[in-house]
Amino acid sequence: SSGQDDQRPRLHFTPPGNWMNDPNGLVFCEGEYHLFYQHHPFDLQWGPMHWGHAVSRDLIHWEHLPIALAPDEHGTIFSGCAVVDENDTSGFFGGGKGLVAVFTQHAERPQTREPLQRQSIAYSKDNGRTWTKYAGNPVLGDESVLDFRDPKAIWHEAAAKWVMVVSAGDRVRFYTSPDLKEWTFASDFGAGEGSHAGVWECPDLFELPVDGGAAGRKWVLMVSVGGDPDDPAGSGTQYFVGSFDGTAFVNDHPSDTVLWMDRGRDNYAGATWSNIPREDGRRLFIGWMVNLKYAGVTPATVWRGAMTLPRELTLADTAEGPRIVQQPVAEVERLREEIGRWSDTVLRSGAEWTGDASGNALEAVAEFEPDTAAEVGIRFGTAPGEETIVGYDARRGELFIDRTCSGRTDFHELFPCRHAAPLDPAERRLRLWIFVDRSSVEVFAGDGRLVMTDLIFPSGPNRSVALYSLGGDAKLSSLTLYRLA
Ligand code: FRU
Repeated sequence: SSGQDDQRPRLHFTPPGNWMNDPNGLVFCEGEYHLFYQHHPFDLQWGPMHWGHAVSRDLIHWEHLPIALAPDEHGTIFSGCAVVDENDTSGFFGGGKGLVAVFTQHAERPQTREPLQRQSIAYSKDNGRTWTKYAGNPVLGDESVLDFRDPKAIWHEAAAKWVMVVSAGDRVRFYTSPDLKEWTFASDFGAGEGSHAGVWECPDLFELPVDGGAAGRKWVLMVSVGGDPDDPAGSGTQYFVGSFDGTAFVNDHPSDTVLWMDRGRDNYAGATWSNIPREDGRRLFIGWMVNLKYAGVTPATVWRGAMTLPRELTLADTAEGPRIVQQPVAEVERLREEIGRWSDTVLRSGAEWTGDASGNALEAVAEFEPDTAAEVGIRFGTAPGEETIVGYDARRGELFIDRTCSGRTDFHELFPCRHAAPLDPAERRLRLWIFVDRSSVEVFAGDGRLVMTDLIFPSGPNRSVALYSLGGDAKLSSLTLYRLA
């Protein structure tokens, strides 16, 4: 069974063994980032969900901890969040503070066997090491909806109350509470808004400055979308930009505007950390790195499921309105060992510039001027005839990932593919920032304005990096390659 352990990503979080899906309970407390996750501790397949648990001080090195929440008479433990109850609004902490988890319990309705999903809470007085479920669980139910799950609670400063956003079929609902126990319906949002290619799941809600505050502040509502059975793109995460007053979310855009967080195939059910200290101020995100189309059949013998790199989210003003920009967290830079640095090289049409770049985890920072080329790109070679290509189709103005020959692709018909997303390089300069970590590739183009995240299953670690240009010459303005140790 050590075979798959050799293929563990070096920087991406994976469970110690067996099945993992969504990140849950993301909260920072007493110097630790907590990462709970949907977990089947006894099988490589999804099943009765528990909350697995890990902590980190730098978002890179994780310590696995015992399972935090296990199924009980109210059901299995689905996705949710965790908050620091600073002022003991819940009364769980005898006037002190502590952690409260808010999550869905999934059960079956006795007659129809349809899902029964209700929200529960649990608290921890020891930094998340042990949890007590609240005796009054579940705290919120509504039997009129079948899909009612994935609560995200935040403390709303201006309204001075807790707000929960929770998915309810084809929309999200907002509830408010003084104490995390009693929840009152406030409003809903989403019918006819954005993408409804699949069921809505895992909402998140946060406020961000636009352009660092120069253009005010906006609220972001993130919603994962399960995917259309007929669309090869499958599942993904959309977001809305607007305002939120503690009661209702107002979309700034026309209802048919669809904004995606990630244009790769493998970023789902992501969420952001709560309680990041004010001095830090970052909005930190992590997603489950897979597509629902094939989540259950990816090659696995020991563990199945990985998270994306942790990312910082910001809002940048554009002609179309504020848009999410994502960058890998700065902590990743501490791992850099420079392999080499090149600049001002002409890439002749049809020729390749090849460098030795062996390692399990690599970072490439490249800047091209495509000039007359029809296509430029980078091939990450893992074995003879085995490579993953990150390229730019200059005629179509599209960035693409081609994983057709990336290694194992035969486990699902939709996996071997080349897929693309529009990219308009600023001043004809193409900036690509790429992380390859054994079984994933993440591309942050244009400094994170366009992100593509894809899984790959190569037979071994990376060996070579080749830059190429087709249909005309291009200029490689600069390239820096790092091994991430
Ligand atoms: C998203 C999801 C959530 C649910 C959980 C169950 O992947 O379906 O909506 O809470 O996974 O594992």
